[in-house]
Amino acid sequence: MQTEHFWMPFTANRQFKAKPRLLKSAKGMYYTSEDGREILDGTAGLWCVNAGHNHPKVVQAIQAQAASLDFAPTFQMAHPLAFEAASKLASMAPKALNRVFFCNDGSEGVDTALKMALAYHRARGDAARCRLIGRERGYHGVGFGGISVGGIAGNRKQFGSGLAGVDHLRHPLNIAKNAFSKGLPEHGAELADELELRLLTLHDASSVAAVIVEPLQGSTGVIIPPQGYLQKLRDICTKHGILLIFDEVITGFGRLGSAFAADYFGVMPDMIVCAKGLTNAAVPMGAVIATQTIHDVLVNAAPKDQIEFFHGYTYSAHPLACAAAIATLEVYREEKIFEAAAAMAPYFEQAAHSLRGLPHVKDIRNLGLVCGIELEPQIGKSTTRAYDIFEKCFWEKNLLIRTTGDIIALSPPLIIDKAQIDRLFSQLADAIRELAN
Ligand SMILES: Cc1ncc(COP(=O)(O)O)c(C=O)c1O
Repeated sequence: MQTEHFWMPFTANRQFKAKPRLLKSAKGMYYTSEDGREILDGTAGLWCVNAGHNHPKVVQAIQAQAASLDFAPTFQMAHPLAFEAASKLASMAPKALNRVFFCNDGSEGVDTALKMALAYHRARGDAARCRLIGRERGYHGVGFGGISVGGIAGNRKQFGSGLAGVDHLRHPLNIAKNAFSKGLPEHGAELADELELRLLTLHDASSVAAVIVEPLQGSTGVIIPPQGYLQKLRDICTKHGILLIFDEVITGFGRLGSAFAADYFGVMPDMIVCAKGLTNAAVPMGAVIATQTIHDVLVNAAPKDQIEFFHGYTYSAHPLACAAAIATLEVYREEKIFEAAAAMAPYFEQAAHSLRGLPHVKDIRNLGLVCGIELEPQIGKSTTRAYDIFEKCFWEKNLLIRTTGDIIALSPPLIIDKAQIDRLFSQLADAIRELAN
């Protein structure tokens, strides 16, 4: 196999190509590797295959759609599935959020939401609100908007100075106080007050358009919001007329046992960004779900025969993606996938925390069907401890796990059963022990 032409994303290309890890097919909870091994998927691909791989209903919907309408534009044209997919998604979203703008992935969703926030304030006659606030260690994809509001140094340093007028909250991870918390950590809600006490004092609220956060920070190593934190952010944003955007690219579609994290926390943002689980990852698709107010203000500000929002993608509401989304959302409902995740969460939590006490494990944190296991880095070699465990799991334990820095993140498909949870954690524990030094 020639490997040189595929320049791989977020990959150590030379290291990978020296010993490629290849997956060739998948079904339910398992991948099959190129060399024929069945690999238990502890990560739902990349936090996205929530209903399990190759769900027959989704496969069938895509196949049928590919044979009937390959593509239709949605600029000044449309096709019926686009409206059906939007209605289905709106009916699953928190009640106040019911206007859906489609894009192709999470990064586009983030940039769409940020642009929507700016355009909304401008349409209200408040164009001075152009500042955006994100959070340290936030991951909001890889567009220039997303890396600017995001807070991962590695994703920013190669790419210049990013958007102007962006500031960041501190992240709420506090291992010293909250290590081995089960569910929401006790300490840290006061970090949300920084929005008002520090950032709005510095910049003045009248210059701020939106605050964007992941309700649960996934990609930077599973940072769970402290009790009361998100409600505080909501209250401060409401008080100062600032839009609150939840980036639910990971938390959407059942990861916490409810359709969205907004439902789980009972905290309503003004916009939700989603992607990944929207189509069970079978076709790329993302969406921003906004309140009717945002939509109406923006749309009604333009003359009736003029385009209101100068934004969109050739593949917004692509027919294949719409077919996959409709089928996926039906599967979630019909098979009660979110309810199953909620029911399994306590068992998953117990299994995750059974790794406490293993060599080098310095924190375990969890919520819903997500957990992060943070390891002490090897001296002078950060990331290698977790990476070695990841490799051992793949080659020797037939497990797919994910690592970021020295944190192992697990987020299996929501259909995982108890025996599979037992296997996931016991084999991971074996790998951690075998590599302890
Ligand atoms: C919270 C969050 N936002 C945005 C993204 C970017 O999504 P995509 O890779 O589909 O562009 C991700 C991807 O993991 C994510 O976790």
